[in-house]
Amino acid sequence: MSLNKPYLDVPGTTIFDADQSRKGYWLNQFCMSLMKAENRARFKAGEDAYLAEWPMTHEQRAAVRARDLNWMMRTGGNIYFLSKLGATDGLSFQQMAGSMTGMTEQQYRDMMIAGGRSPEGNRVVGEGGDAQGPASQTAAWREWQEAEARNKLESAVESAQTAPETRAGSHAHVTAAVFSSHVPAIGAAIDMGKTEEPYWAPLFKGFERSKQWMKDHRPDVVFLVYNDHATSFDLGVIPTFAIGTAAEFEPADEGYGPRPVPTVVGHPELASHIAQSVIQQDFDLTIVNDLRVDHGLTVPMNLMFGSPAQWPVRVIPFHVNVVQYPVPSGQRCFALGQAIRRAIESYDEPLKVQIWGTGGMSHQLQGPRAGLINAEWDNRFLDRLIADPAELATMPHIEYVREAGSEGIELVMWLIARGAMSDVAGSGKPPRVAHRFFHVPASNTAVGHLILENQI
Ligand code: DHB
Ligand code: FE
Repeated sequence: MSLNKPYLDVPGTTIFDADQSRKGYWLNQFCMSLMKAENRARFKAGEDAYLAEWPMTHEQRAAVRARDLNWMMRTGGNIYFLSKLGATDGLSFQQMAGSMTGMTEQQYRDMMIAGGRSPEGNRVVGEGGDAQGPASQTAAWREWQEAEARNKLESAVESAQTAPETRAGSHAHVTAAVFSSHVPAIGAAIDMGKTEEPYWAPLFKGFERSKQWMKDHRPDVVFLVYNDHATSFDLGVIPTFAIGTAAEFEPADEGYGPRPVPTVVGHPELASHIAQSVIQQDFDLTIVNDLRVDHGLTVPMNLMFGSPAQWPVRVIPFHVNVVQYPVPSGQRCFALGQAIRRAIESYDEPLKVQIWGTGGMSHQLQGPRAGLINAEWDNRFLDRLIADPAELATMPHIEYVREAGSEGIELVMWLIARGAMSDVAGSGKPPRVAHRFFHVPASNTAVGHLILENQI
């Protein structure tokens, strides 16, 4: 993992970053459940039974039972979540914070009344301040540590007997970009066995080559840019950009029942790395651990992989708001793609990553102008996407709406994928067009499709 963590040498301090969050996910979610009075009552009536309902590690359960906040934090707990447990026990924030310092409650109170702990000597590990010592230790934690040390020794002896696997030390890279429309009716045609019908056959024929290409160019991970269609995100919270950092994503029920497609397996480590890197490049991403994926993601997966029992790649879902205005500009999407490429290329595992842009092409799903198709404009968009994406990125939203229909705005997402290719920012050769396809109609939409291979 190559996350940049300049905060590791701050004494007596655990920064709640993506790695900690992943480690502590269920511990923190358990704590959140204590916001409900009925759950607090059940927890108090039987701690072990209540804890057993949560898929936490044994160590996390032991830390909770010991009420050892330092221990809980080491296993991924965050103080704002852990405070719900403290509150359940009737503790104040001052009591909780003080309990982690090795001081008595009274000593901690007195220190705060006297002006608080001084930062002097407490900025960097190794200075001479009063926060440099080890975290306060409970007997339960010491016992756990001793047992752990014994287990580690045993498993080290065991693994020394089997040769460790070595891996060529290089970085992840973007191999290709794939662009495709994502109409729900395409998913329904697949699910209902209608792909051979005259209406659908020409469309699916256009993706035959894509499936063959995919067999020959299978990546380890697909970074899949799509928009959630009022499925996981309603009007309660509207993230402009959201990255899925979970281990798994279930297909959503969009009102017709969930599609009979496999669970999407994520890549939490790479996704968290990309989140951190891209946020540090000044793009605000929403981090999402609980996400059901809709047709925007599952339909392109079928078009590129067919209908296997398991998806053959890991997928990082990346959502862009194109439902409620303001939606991000083409230029911002194009720049974001460049930031995503830098993030992927700084991940220190030799993963092959494809980036996909989905949605579009011309379509309007609403009002008296519904059914608008502009094949000429769409094809010009494909030309410009291949040959001059920087210029294409300057196109204002209003042109998408006027020329490609209100839902044609989904095409801004394609600029994220295009921005992540190696010719952008002057570093590589122009991409090779491995496949291009255009078809009208699928339901209300013009279907466009491109496969661009990076030429390094
Ligand atoms: C259709 C197209 C879409 O992109 C979508 O999200 C929903 C419906 C359609 O053409 O029916
Ligand atoms: Fe859509």
